[in-house]
Amino acid sequence: MAIRSVLVTGGAGYIGSHLVDRLVAREYLVTVLDSLEPQVHRTGGWPSYANPGAVYVRGDVRDRAAFEPLVLAADAVVHFGAAVSVGQSMYQVDRYVDVNTRGTALLLDILVNAKHHVEKVVVASSIGVYGEGAYQCADCGTVAPGIRPAEQLAARDWEQHCPHCGRHAVSVPTPEDKPLYRDNIYSMTKYHQEEMVLLIGKTYGIPSVAPRFFNVYGPRQSLSNPYAGVAAIWLSRLLNKKQPVVFEDGGQLRDFVSIHDVVDCLVLMLEKPGADYLPVNIGSGQTVTILDIARLLARLLDTPIEPQVTQTGRTFDIRHNTADITRARSTLGFEPRVTLEQGFAELIEWARTTPDVAEDFFDRALQELQDKGLLVQP
Ligand SMILES: NC(=O)c1ccc[n+]([C@@H]2O[C@H](COP(=O)([O-])OP(=O)(O)OC[C@H]3O[C@@H](n4cnc5c(N)ncnc54)[C@H](O)[C@@H]3O)[C@@H](O)[C@H]2O)c1
Ligand SMILES: [Zn+2]
Repeated sequence: MAIRSVLVTGGAGYIGSHLVDRLVAREYLVTVLDSLEPQVHRTGGWPSYANPGAVYVRGDVRDRAAFEPLVLAADAVVHFGAAVSVGQSMYQVDRYVDVNTRGTALLLDILVNAKHHVEKVVVASSIGVYGEGAYQCADCGTVAPGIRPAEQLAARDWEQHCPHCGRHAVSVPTPEDKPLYRDNIYSMTKYHQEEMVLLIGKTYGIPSVAPRFFNVYGPRQSLSNPYAGVAAIWLSRLLNKKQPVVFEDGGQLRDFVSIHDVVDCLVLMLEKPGADYLPVNIGSGQTVTILDIARLLARLLDTPIEPQVTQTGRTFDIRHNTADITRARSTLGFEPRVTLEQGFAELIEWARTTPDVAEDFFDRALQELQDKGLLVQP
């Protein structure tokens, strides 16, 4: 049977809402389950962009009474409802594990024990499951170093070393089979979510896919949530006439992927079987330093404000991680379309007109990290 009805948990959020729009346009019957987490939805109500073609249910993914009837009515479940900040997860351990891990456990418990007709589960995983990206050592070949020790950060020795011979190692795009290291509680929960969904999917023959999102950017990204993605945080700073704060030396390599490319790939995952039972990187396949992104934002905003490069590290940060998107290309025919210039110009155009940007809470979030001893001072 073809999929007609799709349940999107977290569908009022940033990535989920864009997917909802696309699914409604493709004439799916879409239901959203979302708790309207106050940190994300400051007005307390459904966001203005909520799609009139979808059905919205306010409820928590940890609440069986809310979740079960919606799962039983769906042909596919896209599970995005989650607590999403790496830094915050290091001091709200109980909440992160409860929402992310237990919420997913509840979904699977429903699928295993109730009579359902779900034909596809898509669970949001993350770049975070890798810890550090893949590296190449001139002597030892492909290597997978762990998180840098605090003493290394304190010495401002930012680059990774080969775990075997100690030489500096060079970043290369990360394939899905790189050994996984979780360096923070958020990433652990994303790993739990992914592993649990793929295991139960395989065991019970429910096709399931775990997209590993790299740095997703685009309109509707929360700008006033200081725990959100780095591009949004910097944009919010710049719009508030403050310097974007860039940790270390700004040379960290990342893969920034436009929300539109992400949605393309998610639709392929729902509609095609090629990536079933697999984790799949979703990135742009392009590598960029975070300092370049901070400067690109300033240039597109036409502001002279320079980033503040702190030369300090955070204990849980990785140095480099960029996406090898071979699997998404070969199993699904995915091809990213949006260039960084186009994508960031669109983000800025949207940010100029959204009321969300009024407040910048970054300094408070930075202070919380400082108070918890998560900033490394040389
Ligand atoms: N944005 C990224 O770059 C990125 C990267 C990697 C992974 N992800 C994952 O993608 C998914 C979507 O992320 P996003 O960026 O759209 O985040 P978001 O915060 O904008 O959206 C998450 C939504 O989930 C809802 N939610 C939170 N707790 C809930 C609960 N207990 N019950 C029901 N709903 C709840 C929130 O209200 C929000 O609308 C998340 O699972 C996240 O971990 C995002
Ligand atoms: Zn080596």
